[in-house]
Amino acid sequence: MKDINIAIEDFPILKRDVNGKPLVYLDNAATMQKPQQVIDAIVDVYTNYNSNIHRGTHHLSNVCTIAFEDTRVKIQNFINASHSHEIIFTRGTTESINLVANTFGDAFLSKGDEVIISEMEHHSNIVPWQLLQERKGIILRVIPFDVNGELILDEYYSMLNKRTKLVAVTHVSNALGTINPIKEIVSAAHIEGVPVLIDGAQAVHHFPVDVVDLDCDFYAFSGHKLYGPTGVGVLYGKEEWLNKMPPWQGGGEMIKSVSFEKTTFNELPFKFEAGTPNFTGTIGLGAAIDYLTGYEWDKIMTYEEDLLSYATQKLSEIDGLRMYGTAKNRSSVISFLVNDIHPYDMGLMLDKIGVAVRTGHHCAQPVMTRFDIPGTVRVSFAIYNTKEDVDKLVEGVLKIRNIFG
Ligand code: ALA
Repeated sequence: MKDINIAIEDFPILKRDVNGKPLVYLDNAATMQKPQQVIDAIVDVYTNYNSNIHRGTHHLSNVCTIAFEDTRVKIQNFINASHSHEIIFTRGTTESINLVANTFGDAFLSKGDEVIISEMEHHSNIVPWQLLQERKGIILRVIPFDVNGELILDEYYSMLNKRTKLVAVTHVSNALGTINPIKEIVSAAHIEGVPVLIDGAQAVHHFPVDVVDLDCDFYAFSGHKLYGPTGVGVLYGKEEWLNKMPPWQGGGEMIKSVSFEKTTFNELPFKFEAGTPNFTGTIGLGAAIDYLTGYEWDKIMTYEEDLLSYATQKLSEIDGLRMYGTAKNRSSVISFLVNDIHPYDMGLMLDKIGVAVRTGHHCAQPVMTRFDIPGTVRVSFAIYNTKEDVDKLVEGVLKIRNIFG
């Protein structure tokens, strides 16, 4: 297995300078950097076997189709799905959730039905349900979180009722880092016969996810947050649901036969993959999974937990720094503000010393509303970050705090 302590060597972008300083990249929750292995896999497609998949009888098309379908199996194994046809390729987490909102929503939800989400959702797990609310008159219920950023489960349990048709919650909050108790959430919903969708965008690269063990009905994630390319993502769905759901987008590949009188649809997973998929990105995602699974999960988790606790400790020693998101079970994210320095100013000034962070509401405006703040400075870690990165961040934050007085 690979040595996590030298992971940084695989990421060419981390060798560059920004504003004359060595890059310290701490915006990983927005997108991860890519290892050379992923870059090489993409170059290899375009250099050696680029060709449309599932369509050709010729050599290149066959090679490309095999690489694409191999990735489906890699992802099946990665999240321990029971069948490879339960893996649907999408553009990313957002499209995966929209797919469920449109197909499950159209087929199974009617006026007055309830969908439960949480107060810490990314906009991509709020707005698709609000659109459905407008189209179909469904009711959205929202599980609140407490001052530490932990979901108040008693409130959730009391929301479940005969009208509840779906629960859709995030595995890990992108703004607070909270790891939610998904198994409890799923089992409570299943007692009422309610399916559960999990937004795993901030989870799958930090710890192993087993969809059979979680028993969730849908699980969505993105390639680009998993050390893979942009523009490709995954929707896992239990076979029984995917078979019952109507297709979403129409076009090539998702049909069995087309006539002006009657069109019949393809079987899983192709029913949900209209048009030429992002096969290059998908093959790149396969390389990213190979890359990540080249490390032992225990080593990844220990390394990232150690980094998170080091950063939490160092940042909490700064006078005037307030953290948002102090849940007991947290992943590689720290959100903070310092005195009354606007997060945007902090972000711009950190950039001047080569430290990349995200500032603002992080597409989770209800989280900011809950704390009555305009946004936060967010640092988020990956396997290539080091304690030296944290030291540079802390040094920068201290300097900026002193400049603002
Ligand atoms: N959802 C991404 C983030 O949290 C873009 O930054």
